[in-house]
Amino acid sequence: MRNILITGGAGFIGSHLSERLLKEGNKVFIIDNFNDYYDPNIKRNNVEEVKKTCLENNISSENYIVFEGDIRDNNFLKEVFTNKIDSIMHLAAMAGVRPSIEDPTLYYDVNITGTVNILERCRENNVKQFVYASSSSVYGNNEKVPFAEVDRVDNPISPYAATKKSGELLCHTYHHLFDMNIACLRFFTVYGPRQRPDLAINKFTRLILEDKEIPFYGDGTTSRDYTYVEDIVEGIVSSINYVNRDESVFEIFNIGGDKTVSLTEMVEIIEDVLGKKAKINRLPMQPGDVNRTCADISYSKKMLGYNPKTTFKEGIKKFIAWKLK
Ligand SMILES: NC(=O)c1ccc[n+]([C@@H]2O[C@H](COP(=O)([O-])OP(=O)(O)OC[C@H]3O[C@@H](n4cnc5c(N)ncnc54)[C@H](O)[C@@H]3O)[C@@H](O)[C@H]2O)c1
Repeated sequence: MRNILITGGAGFIGSHLSERLLKEGNKVFIIDNFNDYYDPNIKRNNVEEVKKTCLENNISSENYIVFEGDIRDNNFLKEVFTNKIDSIMHLAAMAGVRPSIEDPTLYYDVNITGTVNILERCRENNVKQFVYASSSSVYGNNEKVPFAEVDRVDNPISPYAATKKSGELLCHTYHHLFDMNIACLRFFTVYGPRQRPDLAINKFTRLILEDKEIPFYGDGTTSRDYTYVEDIVEGIVSSINYVNRDESVFEIFNIGGDKTVSLTEMVEIIEDVLGKKAKINRLPMQPGDVNRTCADISYSKKMLGYNPKTTFKEGIKKFIAWKLK
């Protein structure tokens, strides 16, 4: 059994990861401040779902410990770190591109200062295995596709992307100075059950079901490399195992899906699975949004054995089945 701390553990990705790690026999500590970026009841419900999974799988409730607090609060973090922790998955962040333009200071505080705080507590407590949630948004509007880890990422186009790139730089610094083993994972648009309500797939599905217009930004050719949440969790678990080694490692991995899907295709697939047409409200492109994301996953395949299995249509079917429950 390993003791694994997940920051942001009550969120969309964190709750799925908690379930997976608990089922594999680990002890999971989560930190979350249950903020109102989206309805905190959704996060509390995610925690309840994890507890239910524990019950159903005969996992002791002592293996799932929830710490409610903020990663900007060092006294709180010092308390959490009195527990023995083997590895960390640092997911807690203000996620979301467009709101970062409205409140860049908050994004800076949580995503950069919060990350330094967690790295500092690792240094103090000799926690050497660290996985960081970065984002495909660090690639900005790079022309070269697919995006590879070795490409330049010096031109972020939103404060959110800039904070994620900064987090990667801090991770490298702590690896260099304090010999921490670190993997930075660039997630490509994640979807599936419990997806954040602000993300397009969830929002569009909700609006179509409510017979309301969906905001359709641009001409429909913008595209995303969508990644099903189980595939993301697989990539995270492989990375947690990867940093658990004696020699010193620092790596950046793309954790993407199997192919790129345009906005038009995405809406058509949701319509098809729901059996209902969307009412489309055409709007201009939003500032901060990139034109496309497209992951080159050959390096993660080689180093982690990462191999996303869920096609977009299958993933949407699973998402909609959850949504209609
Ligand atoms: N979902 C995606 O498509 C996607 C894509 C790329 C990167 N990411 C990154 O993955 C991570 C998880 O994303 P998610 O979609 O699960 O988001 P989420 O918002 O559902 O989860 C993040 C969790 O962190 C918590 N949190 C935020 N600020 C905190 C603070 N100051 N202290 C303690 N907890 C705090 C939130 O309450 C939330 O539960 C984020 O770092 C995000 O930037 C997500």
